[in-house]
Amino acid sequence: MYLNNQPYLHTKNDRMNCSVHSDYHQMSEFAANEILSVLAANPKATLCLATGDTPLLTYQLLVEKIIRQKIKISQIHFVGLDEWVGVPHTNPGSCHYFLHKNIFTPLNVNLKNIHLFDALSANLADECKKMNELIDRLQGIDLMLVGIGRNGHIGFNEPGDAENNFAHISQLDPLTIEVGQKYFTETIHLQKGLTLGLAHFYAARKVMMMANGIKKKEIVKKTLEYPISTQVPATLIRKHQNAILIIDKDASGQE
Ligand code: PGA
Repeated sequence: MYLNNQPYLHTKNDRMNCSVHSDYHQMSEFAANEILSVLAANPKATLCLATGDTPLLTYQLLVEKIIRQKIKISQIHFVGLDEWVGVPHTNPGSCHYFLHKNIFTPLNVNLKNIHLFDALSANLADECKKMNELIDRLQGIDLMLVGIGRNGHIGFNEPGDAENNFAHISQLDPLTIEVGQKYFTETIHLQKGLTLGLAHFYAARKVMMMANGIKKKEIVKKTLEYPISTQVPATLIRKHQNAILIIDKDASGQE
């Protein structure tokens, strides 16, 4: 019944597509194929791929497919979504480490095509400025893939943050700090992040937002039903012109 990546349910909510899959594996297959179709349509695309538990299998499947199908990605550019301020790249909990381990190293991506925040920089404002200029030079983001934080954050755009921000320094929400510990083996002091802003999210030519598991059921419901506002940043997906919410049955709340 769920073979061939057929979504369990595909609905339209406002302008937004919602694709519900039987389980985490099926949604990850679907998401990997969506990314592949962006690469096929534009071999010079700029991708912004979130880190975190949610997209991990998507990236593993994507890497497998790119290698197996011998897809050329030499002109693809990758820009970072976010990073924990003060966490070195060598820390396995950093976004930098995650992306290199799961995407850039297995695909042998040229370093000149990788553009991540340096969250150890002495001048974080300048890091943000450089990232904004770079995205402009790349003529915007073709595909932005994001997860949903349990508080509804997108990247480190936390509840109540401004809607017109580009890259900026974010004061992390207490729930982000608490949940963020899961990425680290040691207890770590998290307080700030660097993140692309919601203005980048709106401007991305395609957005994929993903969530899986029972623990995301509550926030997925809010994403779909709460008033569209930065109080729950994920609700803003409903204003995006070309977005798809990809979830599994557990996160959807369906029986
Ligand atoms: P997760 O994080 O994929 O690890 O659940 C999602 C997020 O915080 O955006």
